[in-house]
Amino acid sequence: MSSQFNDPAHTILGFYVRNYLRGSSVLDLAKLARTVRRRPCSNNKSGHFLDYFAGHCNIGATMTHTNKNVGVGMVGLGYWGPKVMRNFMVAPRAEVVAFCDANKQRLDAVHHPGALKTTSYDELLAAPNVDAVVLCVPTDMHYSFAKKALEAGKHVWVEKPMTDSAKTAMELHLLAKEKGLTLFVDHVFLYNTAIVKMKELIKRGILGQIYYIESTRVNLGLFQRDVNVVWDLAPHDIAILNYLVEKDPISVTATGAAHVHPGREEMAYVNLTYDDGMIAHFNFNWLSPVKERRMVIGGSQRLLVYDDGETDEKIKIYDKGVYVNEQASEKGRNTILVNYRMGDMTAPYIDFKEPLWVACNSFVDAILSGTPFPSTGLEGAKVVQLIEAIQISLKENGKKVDFNASHP
Ligand SMILES: NC(=O)c1ccc[n+]([C@@H]2O[C@H](COP(=O)([O-])OP(=O)(O)OC[C@H]3O[C@@H](n4cnc5c(N)ncnc54)[C@H](O)[C@@H]3O)[C@@H](O)[C@H]2O)c1
Repeated sequence: MSSQFNDPAHTILGFYVRNYLRGSSVLDLAKLARTVRRRPCSNNKSGHFLDYFAGHCNIGATMTHTNKNVGVGMVGLGYWGPKVMRNFMVAPRAEVVAFCDANKQRLDAVHHPGALKTTSYDELLAAPNVDAVVLCVPTDMHYSFAKKALEAGKHVWVEKPMTDSAKTAMELHLLAKEKGLTLFVDHVFLYNTAIVKMKELIKRGILGQIYYIESTRVNLGLFQRDVNVVWDLAPHDIAILNYLVEKDPISVTATGAAHVHPGREEMAYVNLTYDDGMIAHFNFNWLSPVKERRMVIGGSQRLLVYDDGETDEKIKIYDKGVYVNEQASEKGRNTILVNYRMGDMTAPYIDFKEPLWVACNSFVDAILSGTPFPSTGLEGAKVVQLIEAIQISLKENGKKVDFNASHP
């Protein structure tokens, strides 16, 4: 859950959204927004909340109104589905019109008058008011569910990882292209304004040439029933990496261990090398006592640290580095002097928005207006290609895998 929901205003929002999900009218929500708007803001976060809230309620002078809403069918209401659903419920140009889960109890917990509720995915697909499906089902179902939806002419939001094989991921990408439908992979970090800021800094050359990217994504669990730690956590970091550097590695090595479930690694160390010398290193672990989501980028000009656990200063840029002087010594032999540059640390301002909310609206904008977005089917398939190469190395005790040769 993003930090902005910790302040009281968001608690109020949570309460009203919950009521709305139970059947209250959206007008109640809008009334609350107007009431809260009149109150003086006690801190910056409240101000931020009001803009966010007004946007969600479709009120306020800056909203653009359109008669066309995207009819959304939510599929899978387990752990992640309700988080995605909460954002589609309040997205200005979307309307959640159908819910599907094989688990009747989870379905019964949803109260949304007028919407279809069904345990049958086929019934949801047959509903004419469903323009797009949002698939929050287990990974091994992504391919068959997404394929069926595309064949039925529906736009698709599919959770990460896009599928469990690069072949099927690419097939979905091509099918969506052929049908002219939007295929959106929920690489939610690409909609995190801190990551977008990092890309902007790299593009502007603030860091100089990128020497290395190092990422730590560790926690105690959550153990997944169907995949190992790489399939679960690596999609986030690989999607971020590909988005930031826009290039493929030449080789991959990975080692890991499965202490808890034989054959299903719960920790892995991954290295990627690039033809320009850049190195990326990832640490994925479900057996860590603390939660860490941290990335360090080392550049020739500056160093950057991204810490997702920070509330205010998620990105820190260190004006530090080294430069080398080669000097002739008295005896005529050349010596190399490494000098250290120790400058300031700055933390750029980031206009934080809940990434899932940005992602939901990007999906809707892509459907209604063709607005480009970064987590396309093609990008999702590239992430899966890299995971497959990591898997090969992992299963062969760290063997170096030629990335280009590892996929079709
Ligand atoms: N983008 C992210 O940051 C993020 C975070 C967490 C999970 N996920 C992804 O979301 C997906 C779901 O993960 P989860 O943790 O919510 O799993 P989950 O097991 O908690 O939920 C899956 C739901 O799908 C339902 N389901 C299973 N078979 C079905 C069928 N045939 N028809 C309809 N519903 C069916 C289950 O009953 C369950 O409610 C996974 O692919 C996971 O990788 C993404």
